[in-house]
Amino acid sequence: MIIKKFLQKKIIRFINSQKVLKFFFYYHKFFNNKGLKDIGFDFSTKKNRKFIVQDIIDTNKYNSYLEIGCFDDELFDFIKINNKIGVDPVTGGTVRLTSDQFFSKNKEYFDCIFIDGLHTYNQVKKDIQNSLKFLNNNGVILLHDCLPNNFYEQATPRCQFTWNGDVWKAIVECRTNKDLDVYTCYADFGIGVIFKRSNRNLLEYQCSDFSKIKFKDYHKNPYHLMNIIEYDKLKKIF
Ligand SMILES: C[S@@+](CC[C@H](N)C(=O)[O-])C[C@H]1O[C@@H](n2cnc3c(N)ncnc32)[C@H](O)[C@@H]1O
Repeated sequence: MIIKKFLQKKIIRFINSQKVLKFFFYYHKFFNNKGLKDIGFDFSTKKNRKFIVQDIIDTNKYNSYLEIGCFDDELFDFIKINNKIGVDPVTGGTVRLTSDQFFSKNKEYFDCIFIDGLHTYNQVKKDIQNSLKFLNNNGVILLHDCLPNNFYEQATPRCQFTWNGDVWKAIVECRTNKDLDVYTCYADFGIGVIFKRSNRNLLEYQCSDFSKIKFKDYHKNPYHLMNIIEYDKLKKIF
């Protein structure tokens, strides 16, 4: 167990090392990026995730909170609520497991689930599906890092320190589900918002495998694809 954790930390450190990131940056630059410019999202004047998550909890009188991916507990420690669980295989939170391991054993239901673990489409899709199984009626699922500003911020493999991953693809997919009502709050690198209720703005997007959708489609009209909403407006539709 100790050796496994040690190796896990070493591998994560290696993947995130400057040399590896630089290698993948040039790989994406030469083979993948089509020269698309920054979209121009500016989060500096928006509320941050700590304010937003706590405000949602307080306004809706939520009692239980699950955070997937806690890192240094910046958000997890900030949240004040009766019952909270934080899941992270490496550091922070209260449960030292991956989200898959946690959900395979879990029996609890939650009012608010914040997904911020492994930022790849496949993992986030699983985290959403599992979270939907354990969401209380009138609860909400939130997803961090849904609005990359440019190709490199979302490219996988990761190629720079500031990285959202391709979480945005999972939001686009959920937007096409008639039984989920899905938004992206324009705050803190994009906070995806998923309600388990009829979709009020269904996205028509024909696709059999959302892992393969192109960044240029997102770049063309992120507001339409992601259903972007300001926090003040979002508050009114809970
Ligand atoms: C971006 S950080 C989380 C930041 C934190 N939620 C906050 O708002 O301050 C991502 C964390 O996800 C964790 N993580 C990576 N893979 C995971 C997985 N499969 N399940 C749960 N957590 C995972 C990492 O160990 C890392 O600590």
